[in-house]
Amino acid sequence: MSSREWDRTLVLDAVWATEAAAVAAWKLVGRGDEKAADQAAVDAMRTALNNLNIDGRVVIGEGERDEAPMLYIGEKVGRGKGIEIDIALDPLEGTTLTAKAMDNALAVMAWAPRGTMLHAPDTYMDKIAIGPGYPKGVVDLNASPADNIKALAKAKGVDPSHITACVLDRPRHGEIISSLREVGARVRLITDGDVAGVIHTADPDTGIDIYLGSGGAPEGVLACAALKCVGGQFQGRLVFRNADERVRAQRIGLTDFEKTYDLHELVQGPAIFAATGVTKGALLDGVKLERGIVHTHSLVMDSANGFVRQIRMKRPL
Ligand code: FBP
Repeated sequence: MSSREWDRTLVLDAVWATEAAAVAAWKLVGRGDEKAADQAAVDAMRTALNNLNIDGRVVIGEGERDEAPMLYIGEKVGRGKGIEIDIALDPLEGTTLTAKAMDNALAVMAWAPRGTMLHAPDTYMDKIAIGPGYPKGVVDLNASPADNIKALAKAKGVDPSHITACVLDRPRHGEIISSLREVGARVRLITDGDVAGVIHTADPDTGIDIYLGSGGAPEGVLACAALKCVGGQFQGRLVFRNADERVRAQRIGLTDFEKTYDLHELVQGPAIFAATGVTKGALLDGVKLERGIVHTHSLVMDSANGFVRQIRMKRPL
């Protein structure tokens, strides 16, 4: 399949599934029930995927087969016809944001040709990301936060005090946050949603230059697929908290537990990234209902062609 056909055939299909998940989750915005919101998004995304003419396989999903009844890792989705696709998905990225009616909850998904996306286990990942336009290797996950800020500031031609870093607001990030502030950088703390946090580095309107810190490994691969489409840089290293997590990683074929992966190792081939806003955010508007018509706002990007589209959809609820 040529890259143009890949774009024409798959882009709208991908958005169809994130729109469905976002609308389903939106019905539970602000109702204080994370699990119900997540389940609604999972059900809707699964139904949408199973109506598509794809031979899909979930490589990053809701968990392993014994713990996730739907969209588990290895689940086949689609009608089994058409192109063979590996799918990384998070039907509701920001379950707490949704339950508390806070900004930046998304339905997200990435598609790649079979065998080209890292099957990230459900562990944490140390992450560093910057947007496009910088020389390769300007930041390095193995360097200190302060050195990364200095290197990025130099490459941008500004003082470190003009660099803004986005970090998940977690006690485990205390040291990173202190060293970022010591070197003069501004720190934008987010309560959840590091897929959006990483993507923000590629959008000058957000004012975020760099993303740092640990978050979910599945979210790392999803964000990486998005950055691949817009040309940013990303590095990630899996973080294992116990022997069980190592065993899980071994089961999916990982052997080097210390490895730092770069963007092109996490997502090796072309990728399509789609996201639909559940609640409003810097990236996308949230779902809205006006006089019985539901409105959605989605982003879909295709690394093979470099196309970035925003799609607004209206339909009766
Ligand atoms: P959920 O939607 O699964 O709740 O994930 C939200 C999130 O903030 C991710 O964006 C992030 O990668 C992860 O949780 C961080 O995990 P933790 O809350 O354990 O620090």
